[in-house]
Amino acid sequence: DGFSSDRLFNQGYSYTYDDVIFLPHYIDFPTDAVLLPTKLSRRLPLSIPCVSSPMDTVTESHMAVSMAALGGIGILHSNAASSDQAAMVRSVKARRVPLLSAPVFKSPEDRIHNDDVFDHGANPYVLVTESGAPSSKLLGYVASRDWVKLADKEVKIYDYMVSCKDMVLPWSSDLGRIEEFMAEKGRDVAATVRGDEVVDVVGKEDVERIRGYPKLGVGSVGPDGSWRVGAAIGTRESDKERLEELVKAGIDVVVLDSSQGNSIYQIEMIKYIKKMYSDLDVVGGNVVTVSQAQNLIQAGVDGLRVGMGSGSICTTQEVCAVGRGQATAVYKVASVASQSGVPVIADGGISNSGHIVKALTLGASTVMMGSFLAGSTEAPGAYENQNGRRIKKYRGMGSLEAMAKGSDQRYLGDTAKLKIAQGVVGAVADKGSVLKFVPYTMQAVKQGFQDLGASSLQSAHDLLRSGVLRLEVRTGAAQVEGGVHGLVSYKKKSF
Ligand code: XMP
Repeated sequence: DGFSSDRLFNQGYSYTYDDVIFLPHYIDFPTDAVLLPTKLSRRLPLSIPCVSSPMDTVTESHMAVSMAALGGIGILHSNAASSDQAAMVRSVKARRVPLLSAPVFKSPEDRIHNDDVFDHGANPYVLVTESGAPSSKLLGYVASRDWVKLADKEVKIYDYMVSCKDMVLPWSSDLGRIEEFMAEKGRDVAATVRGDEVVDVVGKEDVERIRGYPKLGVGSVGPDGSWRVGAAIGTRESDKERLEELVKAGIDVVVLDSSQGNSIYQIEMIKYIKKMYSDLDVVGGNVVTVSQAQNLIQAGVDGLRVGMGSGSICTTQEVCAVGRGQATAVYKVASVASQSGVPVIADGGISNSGHIVKALTLGASTVMMGSFLAGSTEAPGAYENQNGRRIKKYRGMGSLEAMAKGSDQRYLGDTAKLKIAQGVVGAVADKGSVLKFVPYTMQAVKQGFQDLGASSLQSAHDLLRSGVLRLEVRTGAAQVEGGVHGLVSYKKKSF
């Protein structure tokens, strides 16, 4: 019944995730027996197969911290000065809670007044340090609600601040420890510090909010106890200096960011990195064919990023006439990569949990997501109002807007002077916190694996390659039938 994967993917068609469907197999275990630990690259283990994309509307420090707390990993984008990208790495490495507060700092001699404009909602506490700088000794705080009440009086902060006695914990404290500490001291706020420098200010409401989300599994933590994080770079000479800064800041993996990775530039860069930084895993790509993959494997990559033109904001296939349906690309590349023990990252085109099940079963070890994570609390940028809906910007790194800021290298030949866009600028709806919707998504993925009779990624790959797991191509009508249809209206809410 149905086709084996080999037969299905060797017919000369380029299939997307939506084109194919698995036939259900046999269940002999509960959903919770499905385990999803995996690897991003040869030496980098993860407890969930989720990676946030190096895009400037997706992954900066807050997203990277949260992805690591969930057991996945974030790849910091490189559309910024190398010093700014390295600062993002240090910011991720400096904390142990899935939070990123940006406290307002004052000195005790400053006055509380109305002219001081800062967002009281986003900054519930104003921190008072000896000199007013983040790196000087913490003395206390003024709660924003008190600040608002006192603002007309122009009083000196020193006379109204709450002393910080019993408020400070080391940066390495996790959320459980912070919660315990607040209970012991009877406080609603705590600050984590590294030396004298304040890392985060954590309110009771933050702890309660995060506690209300599904329980976090094992976070991605390196040997030194800091969150694991990756960073993207290009293949120019200047990227060697960028990499040096990133390595000093403590990255766990580097991702060579190119829409067509099978190039002399990338191969030379892989060899250079392997020679200079033998402890650092290098992810190469993007690739979609067997021969592209073989070239990068031969050059020594530790992971392969797969996808060309399948991203939600991509126009590469239209503009350049190259690319591949993502289901075919993942299956083909994974078939060679697995022989060399190189994990595959299925990059782009994920818009629901079913796509993740498909990517992983077809051979990927992780999925890299842009639009799926954009619009979340943790994505960079502020929410805006568009026709009564809360939205956040999401843009392709090959859009003219992003390239104007510097990301042209990924989408241009090295000598090209005229800029041609290979992506668009758009917006996505407010999705809430990734700390909430990623765990629900993983639960849905586990249900998919259970239907396939696979209790791990490895067993799904084995069932597929051995021909036990069968699949078919869906006709257009079958795809319509597989979605919600025939209703006048409906509300989609999955959890
Ligand atoms: P999703 O579907 O998750 O895709 O939003 C994210 C992936 O899309 C790629 N990307 C682009 N591809 N033009 C392209 O052709 C672009 O401007 C662009 N920006 C990002 C990238 O691989 C990302 O991870």
